[in-house]
Amino acid sequence: MKNINMKKIGIALFAILVLIQFIRPERNGSWEKSENDISLAINVPSDVYQILQTSCYDCHSNHTTYPWYTNIQPIGLWMQHHVDEGKEELNFSEFKTYKPKRQKHKLEEIAEQVNEYEMPLSSYTLIHKNAVLTPEQNVALVSWAKQEFDKIVIPVEAK
Ligand code: HEC
Repeated sequence: MKNINMKKIGIALFAILVLIQFIRPERNGSWEKSENDISLAINVPSDVYQILQTSCYDCHSNHTTYPWYTNIQPIGLWMQHHVDEGKEELNFSEFKTYKPKRQKHKLEEIAEQVNEYEMPLSSYTLIHKNAVLTPEQNVALVSWAKQEFDKIVIPVEAK
């Protein structure tokens, strides 16, 4: 009896796994560089920009590069969830639209999160090995964010 139940559960789980393959999360795939991209708003040296694109843009921009395995559910759904959440917090493709106060705050957050190795998310770098920041890249990103943070002057009335 017990065995039959296990078999039924197994079949049901397999059926669910097959069925969810038909779910196709919407893709975050704008190829064009946004006119509101961070590199058009503040100074982003090319080495820093390279790091942002490799290690952050998948979740924090309007363009995600999807590896083949994100076609498999629930991996794709999980990825989509991170992209939605990441973009909501910080979208480098929309950075230019942020008010100075928000830009400054986000730069502060970047320096903090990267300095504490909170970003890029470890669940992501587990698979995306190329997104792992080397100690040099980590330092470059943090000092860039701090430098740009200092440069942004918030207009008095917005303080
Ligand atoms: C796998 C997706 C993913 C990648 C890659 C990623 N992030 Fe995030 N990031 C998130 C998510 C999800 C959140 C919001 C939830 C949280 O804080 O964990 C977030 C939050 C943040 C925040 C906090 C924003 C705020 O105002 O509180 C900053 C700053 C940040 N990320 C910077 C970065 C930087 C810089 C990189 C690259 C070095 C990066 N992230 C890479 C998914 C990602």
